[in-house]
Amino acid sequence: MANYTPEYEFKDRMLSLGLARVSEAAAIASAKLIGRGDEKAADQAAVDAMRTELNKLDIRGVVVIGEGERDEAPMLYIGEEVGSGSDDAPEVDIALDPLEGTTLTAKAMPNALAVISMGARGSMLHAPDVYMDKLAIGPGFEPDLVTLDMSPTERIEVLAKAKGCKPSDITVCMLERPRHNEALMELRETGAAIRLITDGDVAGVIHCAEPDITGIDIYMGSGGAPEGVLAASALKCMGGQIQGRLLFRNDDERGRAAKAGITDFDRIYTRDDMVQGDVIFAATGVTDGSIVRGLRRVGGYIETETMLMRSRTGSLRRLIYRNPIKD
Ligand code: FBP
Repeated sequence: MANYTPEYEFKDRMLSLGLARVSEAAAIASAKLIGRGDEKAADQAAVDAMRTELNKLDIRGVVVIGEGERDEAPMLYIGEEVGSGSDDAPEVDIALDPLEGTTLTAKAMPNALAVISMGARGSMLHAPDVYMDKLAIGPGFEPDLVTLDMSPTERIEVLAKAKGCKPSDITVCMLERPRHNEALMELRETGAAIRLITDGDVAGVIHCAEPDITGIDIYMGSGGAPEGVLAASALKCMGGQIQGRLLFRNDDERGRAAKAGITDFDRIYTRDDMVQGDVIFAATGVTDGSIVRGLRRVGGYIETETMLMRSRTGSLRRLIYRNPIKD
C-alpha cells in the first residue's frame, strides 16, 4: 500500500468485464466438486482456473491478497505477478479468493463464492493471514456511526436509533464460532435477531449493503483478515462502512504482519484504509446465496451468476453466463 498515488488510475472500465470472466472460470471449475466432501480439491480446481483466466488479462498485476505466502501456495501466492505483463498494461493490485467457503462448497451449503477485486498498484492493504475483528453496516449512515470500540449492545442501540426502529428490529450476521459466544450472549440481551453463518464472511459483510433484500443490518465478529479486504472492496462499490482490527494469537502472526509492512498492530482500518482509490469487484456464485445464485446445469450448459461492480461509478451488473459442459 506504500506506493499508492491517488492520481494513478487503472483501466477499471475496460478491465471490469475481464474480471467477471475470472471469477466465472473459478466458480465453474469447482462445479463438479460441490457436495463431494473434498475441500482441497474444490479449492485447487478454482485456483487453477482463476490463475489461467487472470493471466489472459492485459495487466501487470500483483496478488496482494491470495492463497498464502510463496512457500505455502504454489499458485496465486502473495506477491505473484499475474497478467500479460506487457509494457503498456496498467499496474494493479489484486485481492482474490478463488473459493470463499471451501467447506460450504464441500458440504453443498449456501453462500460459497469465487471472488476477486482489483485496484491501482499500492492501493490495497497487504493484510496478513491472521484474524480480523470486523464490523460492517450498509450505506446511508453518518461515518463511524458504529465503531469497533463500542460494545455489541451500544452498536445495536446506535444503529436502531439511526434507523428509527427498535433494537429488536435489527438483524446481526455473525460467524458461529465459540470465540463469539460472549458477544452472542450480550447481543441476545438486546433482543436483536442473529443470523449465524457457518462460513463465508465476505458474503456476510456484503449482506449489510442490501438490508432490504438480505434482511441483514449489521455484521460483526472476527474472521480472516484477507476476507476483510475483499469485503471492503465490495462495500467500496456498494456503499457501506466496514472497520477492521487485526488480531494476533502469537509471535508468528505478529511476524507475518511485520513482513507485510504493518507497524501499528492495534490500528483500526476503515474501508478506505483497506482499499484506497477505486476498485472493481466480481463475485460469482458457487452455491446459492442471497447475493448471487449458485451454479446451475441448464441443458448442456453450466450457468453462472456474477455480481460485477465498479466503485468509480457505483455501477452493479448481474451477469448470467452459460458455458457448454465439456465432459
Ligand atoms: P475458506 O474458504 O478459506 O475456508 O474461508 C472460510 C471462512 O469462513 C471465511 O469466510 C472466514 O473469514 C474464515 O473462514 C473464518 O475463519 P475460521 O473458520 O478460522 O473461524
